[in-house]
Amino acid sequence: MFLKFTSPVFYGLGTFFALILSFLWIHPVKSNWVEKELNRIYDKAVRDLPNHAPDSLNFPRTLNVNGSLMNTHSGSWTSGFYPGILWQLHDYKNNSKLKEAAEGWGKYLEKEKLDKKTHDLGFKIYCSFGNGYQATKNENYKAIILQAAKTLSSRYNPKVGLIRSWDHHKDVWDFPVIIDNLMNLEMLFRATTWTGDSSYYKIAYSHAFLTMKNHYRPDISCFHVVDYNPNTGAIQKKVTHQGASDASAWARGQAWGLYGYTMIYRETKDPQFLNFAHKIADYIFSHPNMPADLIPYWDFNAPNIPNEERDVSAATILASGLLELAELDKSKAKKYRSYADKILENLQNEKYRTNQSPFFLQHSVGGKPNKVEIDVPIIYADYYYVEALKRKLSYKR
Ligand code: GLY
Repeated sequence: MFLKFTSPVFYGLGTFFALILSFLWIHPVKSNWVEKELNRIYDKAVRDLPNHAPDSLNFPRTLNVNGSLMNTHSGSWTSGFYPGILWQLHDYKNNSKLKEAAEGWGKYLEKEKLDKKTHDLGFKIYCSFGNGYQATKNENYKAIILQAAKTLSSRYNPKVGLIRSWDHHKDVWDFPVIIDNLMNLEMLFRATTWTGDSSYYKIAYSHAFLTMKNHYRPDISCFHVVDYNPNTGAIQKKVTHQGASDASAWARGQAWGLYGYTMIYRETKDPQFLNFAHKIADYIFSHPNMPADLIPYWDFNAPNIPNEERDVSAATILASGLLELAELDKSKAKKYRSYADKILENLQNEKYRTNQSPFFLQHSVGGKPNKVEIDVPIIYADYYYVEALKRKLSYKR
């Protein structure tokens, strides 16, 4: 039976379909490419699983110069990223195999919550168990994270007002603090939210404030390492370890800063950190050495630009940080989202993809001056890539 043109049902159905079409017009298949890419990497991660059975000595990290897989032990700063990727992808599409593998890696990783000799507890424990908690609400993971926060707090020196980063090279530094350490503060903020104990928050706030004051130059680029006198808190030197020179802007360090101050603003709601995140973004994205595809060279002042390696890890950290910054403050959201989209879309080019198990992206740089991990896939580039794609999806823009 056909509906008559004059029938109210006909007009009702017409209005309904018109509304759907106009919705699709206003929101032009916005997340299609994101979902397509997430599905691609999800499928790859599931396919690659059998190559990476949980093992305390073999957390995937990067490739050796001969192309073979380079794994690390659970104590490495990068050990949390592979389980973190598995948890994020399990969270994306409930998959028992991914969950089982992430749990398996977690069994070998858990002991790191007690390691007082490192500041990388956030990278190791929060990037893994934090995503595990997000996906499962398993209370054991919360307890592991809280223990790690306690351990990290033990590295705080009240005379300096900062958390000590490295214990190595005691002949070179007395109390080194590296820009990367901002990333470990998220776990401290979370510990205060979960326990109501403000001591974690105070440590994180002090560390964030003094890093803003002491690590940054007037142009809002940052030093990699600031060394303090542990008894007086006086600054002894400002240098680099992984950058091109002491005065240069090491790309991943700038990315840690943008992501770090965005997260710190989310946790503190203190506008000085929001303003600072904007200033860092301005510095990075107006830099004359930023390539057109927004995948930075490994250092903005690398000596042979444009004949220098890109650092995809810096790009994925930036994309994820920018998406959150756009979400927290709408004032420059359009611009930041367009930068993040450009990064994420460009990373889908064949040039940046890899089929090597278990990686998604290539062309990252770990530490060029130290001749390690130059132009290779690195697990943390993939971790922040997955995070950025998931943020893109969940922010619904
Ligand atoms: N956290 C060490 C690095 O960024 O290479």
